[in-house]
Amino acid sequence: MKSLVVQEPNKFIMSEKAIPECGDDDVLVKVAYAGICGSDMHILHGHNPFVVYPRTSGHEFSGTVAAVGAKVSELSVDDHVVVDPVISCGHCRPCRHGRVNTCLNLQVIGVHRDGGFSQYQVVPASNVYKISKQVPLKQAALVEPYTIAANVFDRLRPCDGDSILIYGAGVIGLTLVQVAKVLGIPSIVVDIVDEKLAVAKQLGATDTINSKQQDVEAVIMEMTQGEGVPLIADAACIPSLVPQILRLAAPAGAVCLLGFLSEPSELAQIEVIKKELTIVGSRLNNKMFSKVIPWIEAGELNTEAIVSHEFAFENFSDAVHQLETSPESSRKIILAF
Ligand SMILES: NC(=O)c1ccc[n+]([C@@H]2O[C@H](COP(=O)([O-])OP(=O)(O)OC[C@H]3O[C@@H](n4cnc5c(N)ncnc54)[C@H](O)[C@@H]3O)[C@@H](O)[C@H]2O)c1
Ligand SMILES: [Zn+2]
Ligand SMILES: [Zn+2]
Repeated sequence: MKSLVVQEPNKFIMSEKAIPECGDDDVLVKVAYAGICGSDMHILHGHNPFVVYPRTSGHEFSGTVAAVGAKVSELSVDDHVVVDPVISCGHCRPCRHGRVNTCLNLQVIGVHRDGGFSQYQVVPASNVYKISKQVPLKQAALVEPYTIAANVFDRLRPCDGDSILIYGAGVIGLTLVQVAKVLGIPSIVVDIVDEKLAVAKQLGATDTINSKQQDVEAVIMEMTQGEGVPLIADAACIPSLVPQILRLAAPAGAVCLLGFLSEPSELAQIEVIKKELTIVGSRLNNKMFSKVIPWIEAGELNTEAIVSHEFAFENFSDAVHQLETSPESSRKIILAF
């Protein structure tokens, strides 16, 4: 089988390997489609502190079951499946409190251990979710990005009548718009690229704001009669925007941050205290696959809208070129196996 191996930062090869053995509690997945994520690019360029090289990345993938371990009873060969990348220990404090995605011994498939940029991959059966064969496997590969959005709403804890302000109409921003729609929450989206905002609008955003052309704070305060927005998700993840985001939050509102940068943001305590804001982080997902899969099976999410390009797995370097030279015209790039 072929696997994409990042041997060291900025150096990858298409390696020929033996198909891995399936342990008793494991499933061997024949990968069908895999999405490329910003974090795969970080692994490629040596910007992910959790990665030990060589590494096969890829944490957004679908496929068919090729073999099951001796102790696996709920999955069978030929099932269509998707894989939750979050592997937790089950006994640390976060795990005991049901926060498995912040496990002290967290292992992320495609980051801490080899992932889906491979024709076959062995994964723990407990991370494998069956999906209806009615859902094309290409769509199934997009379950993971929607679990990021589902997790954000789980962290924000919306109240009846709340609306959400979403910074960034990239892949994650667009999944947030769609999940907001499924949950009946009106969304306002801010970005600096009109084409991205147009897609957000098509997917159900109530309003869009181009922050290069309009004063976001003035527009939002006018829209909300000076109150601000009760829920905010930051899927642009630019540290310097955080003070503005806090100013735009309504009293008793909640703000969810998603960025992985270590650059600090300025925080005016008064913004948080006078409005008693809840500021939360969201990392990957906490058991959200079983929430998102039924939405996709019911046709409630427009998965195709977040995909801009498809490349054959063998042409990975063309996909990287597209992402890195034309970010404005790139959304999710899918690899076909
Ligand atoms: N916490 C998590 O679990 C998690 C998971 C996935 C991604 N992320 C993070 O979320 C962020 C977004 O990921 P993505 O895949 O959607 O990336 P993306 O590049 O597709 O989207 C980023 C968007 O932000 C927009 N943007 C840039 N500057 C802006 C500004 N000043 N104001 C408003 N919008 C602006 C861009 O035009 C783009 O549309 C990344 O930083 C990524 O690391 C976090
Ligand atoms: Zn991802
Ligand atoms: Zn744990």
